[in-house]
Amino acid sequence: MLSVDNLTRHFGRTAAVDRVSFSVERPAFIGIIGRSGAGKSTLLRMLNRLTDATAGEIRFEGRNVLALKGAAKRAWQSDCAMIFQQFNLVPRLDVVSNVLHGTLNRRSALATVFNLYPRADIYRAIDILDRLGIAEQAAKRAEALSGGQQQRVAIARALMQDPKIILADEPIASLDPMNAQVVMDALRRIHEEDGRMVIANLHTLDTARRYCDRVIGMRAGRMVFDGRPEQLTTGVARDIYGADASFSEQATSTSIEALDRVARAAMAETELI
Ligand SMILES: Nc1ncnc2c1ncn2[C@@H]1O[C@H](COP(=O)(O)OP(=O)(O)OP(=O)(O)O)[C@@H](O)[C@H]1O
Ligand SMILES: [Mg+2]
Repeated sequence: MLSVDNLTRHFGRTAAVDRVSFSVERPAFIGIIGRSGAGKSTLLRMLNRLTDATAGEIRFEGRNVLALKGAAKRAWQSDCAMIFQQFNLVPRLDVVSNVLHGTLNRRSALATVFNLYPRADIYRAIDILDRLGIAEQAAKRAEALSGGQQQRVAIARALMQDPKIILADEPIASLDPMNAQVVMDALRRIHEEDGRMVIANLHTLDTARRYCDRVIGMRAGRMVFDGRPEQLTTGVARDIYGADASFSEQATSTSIEALDRVARAAMAETELI
């Protein structure tokens, strides 16, 4: 359904992404790993046309994604919703309005100016927040929520677009282990229940191993690994991260596993699960 062929992006003399090719047959949960500067964000941004490619091709269900223009390009961008490390919410705006922003690209300019949302959209937004366990936060300002809650608002906003693909750029990099797990669990559940593809840049190996069906490893713009999480041995990881023998998994770990039991107990207390 998705195929990427020799995708390349140069910034001056730097090849941020260098002839990357892979294809995805059915909606999968894909993790992209690699050290800082490896090209992970640039790859995601090219996928949803936030950044232009220098060369190569992206096809989705037969469509030539890089050739899309105008309304067709905007439709594609709403088919692949982005989630960012810093949530990118409007801090002073209430949670529901932030979620309703996910419908912006199909509303008229006038409706946008007057902040008018169809009642059906408002109910849908609250349903989605409910599904993510944060409906009771709906009326609060986004800035009043915890990081994990804010990221779930961002996921809700993405779901308002009813996307086929969710592109997540380091979705848990700013979160503590407990919130990281809540957010990853939410993404995994959306993937499984709705059949949406998820492609997430992840900075920790344990998260990639735990949540992904497939992991792509990048190093200096090149794709150096493409396999199942169980193939991601320490040796392979060392190669992806370009580290020497002193490479330690701890350095790329949020130790979610270790904190798992503690986190679950804490979440049970705050009635998140
Ligand atoms: N807008 C830009 N202008 C110039 N160079 C850029 C730009 N965006 C990215 N680069 C360069 O492209 C390379 C890949 O950057 P990218 O942000 O994709 O890496 P990354 O793997 O997402 O890193 P990180 O883990 O730090 O987020 C880097 O060398 C970076 O400096
Ligand atoms: Mg990045």
